[in-house]
Parts: sequence; C-alpha cells; structure tokens
Amino acid sequence: MRSDDSWFPTAQDLDWIESLARPVHPALAALEVAAVPGRVPILDRDAGRVLAALAADRHRVCEVGTAIGYSTLWMALGQPSDGHIVTIDPDTARTAVARTHWRSAGIADERIEVVNSPALDAFAADNPALAGPFDLVFIDALKEEYTAYLEALLPRLAPGALVVADNVLWSGRTSGARPSTPGDRTEVLRAFCVRVLADPRFTGSILPVGDGLLVASWRP
Ligand SMILES: C[S@@+](CC[C@H](N)C(=O)[O-])C[C@H]1O[C@@H](n2cnc3c(N)ncnc32)[C@H](O)[C@@H]1O
Repeated sequence: MRSDDSWFPTAQDLDWIESLARPVHPALAALEVAAVPGRVPILDRDAGRVLAALAADRHRVCEVGTAIGYSTLWMALGQPSDGHIVTIDPDTARTAVARTHWRSAGIADERIEVVNSPALDAFAADNPALAGPFDLVFIDALKEEYTAYLEALLPRLAPGALVVADNVLWSGRTSGARPSTPGDRTEVLRAFCVRVLADPRFTGSILPVGDGLLVASWRP
C-alpha cells in the first residue's frame, strides 16, 4: 500500500540514478542518435538498463517491435553470449539499420533473427523461429495488439518466463493521472495490464521507469 510519505522520483533523483550508471555502450549511444532524425520511438535508456538486467541468464528471447534495434541490443548485451533473440517488425528499412548497429556492437548475426512481418501474422503462420519456448518476451509494438501478442505468446512461454511490456503508463493516461482522449489507446493498454496482473498464473507489477514497464513472471 502506498503510504502518505512515499516518494515519487524527482528530477534530482533521476539525475542521481544516471550519475551512478556506467556509460552506455557506444553502439547504444549511436542508436539513440540515429533515432532522432526519423523520430523513431525507442525505449527510455533506464528502461533499457532494466531490460538488460532482466535478460541476464535468459537464452531465448522474443521481441515484438524491433524498430532500429535499440531494445534488442540492450537485451543482447545483457544476455549470455550464446543467447538468442527473435525479433519481429514489418519495417524492413528499420531492421536493416538495426542490423548494422548490432554488428558494430560485435553481436554475431546468428544471435538475432529478424522476422519481417506483422507479429500476429507471424504467430498465426507457425513460423518455426517463433515456436519457442521463450524465457523472456518483450512487447513494444502496436498498443491495440498487446493483448493479442500476449495470447499468441502464452503457449510459447517456458515456465518462469518473463513477460515485459513498454509504455503501459502511457504518459500518465492509463492511471487517469492525465486525461485520455477517445482512440488514444489508453483503454487497450489498461485492459492489457489488467489481463496480465489479474491472472494468477502471473506474478508481477509495473515499474515506473521510462513510460512504464510491465514485468511479470509466468508460473502456469
Ligand atoms: C515503439 S517501436 C519499437 C521500439 C523498440 N522496441 C526499441 O525500444 O528500440 C514499435 C515498432 O513496432 C513496429 N510494428 C508496427 N506494427 C507491427 C506489427 N503488427 N507487428 C510487429 N511490429 C510492428 C513498428 O514498425 C515500430 O518499429
């Protein structure tokens, strides 16, 4: 329960956290720069650090929503060196950029497999790359499809797998802290959070890092 004197991080807290962090890998810094001109929506840097920590010791990862490969690289760098990631995005131009950055970070091509199609089509097509079982899945594509991604991924999760999803605070709109407008996808994100966190087979919560990172472990 939230006590009256509980503390919500201030800018000073966040600056202090940043001051403790080791410098980001140059390939991650290059991706942060590369995302700017095309306004590619990438993960918050602190959420990346959390994702890398969650990926430690998780060999089989599935990501929905690659973009230019920023979150993918955080996970690849956090994973064991023989870890594998399959990442889905229909945008071939973005994933081609991603590959050049993964290579510059020294990640072997065979460690990251890209599926260039809409995720729900790829899951329905029984693509062998997506057979699983996965130890970690990271959801960061179409907000209105988050719950459908989850349902497609459930039979592909290993016991103890982590489900992680970005943007679940939706800049304060899912909680109602800021007003939402019809069609802004607040309702679907809210429904997704309830779907996961009310399911007794999941244990998890929402970390208020970046735009909100839902983290839940699967114990069927
Ligand atoms: C928020 S960005 C992903 C950012 C990335 N995870 C990161 O943090 O670096 C969302 C991506 O989802 C992709 N996308 C759009 N529709 C999709 C679909 N149906 N299936 C999978 N990915 C999709 C978009 O092309 C876009 O690159």
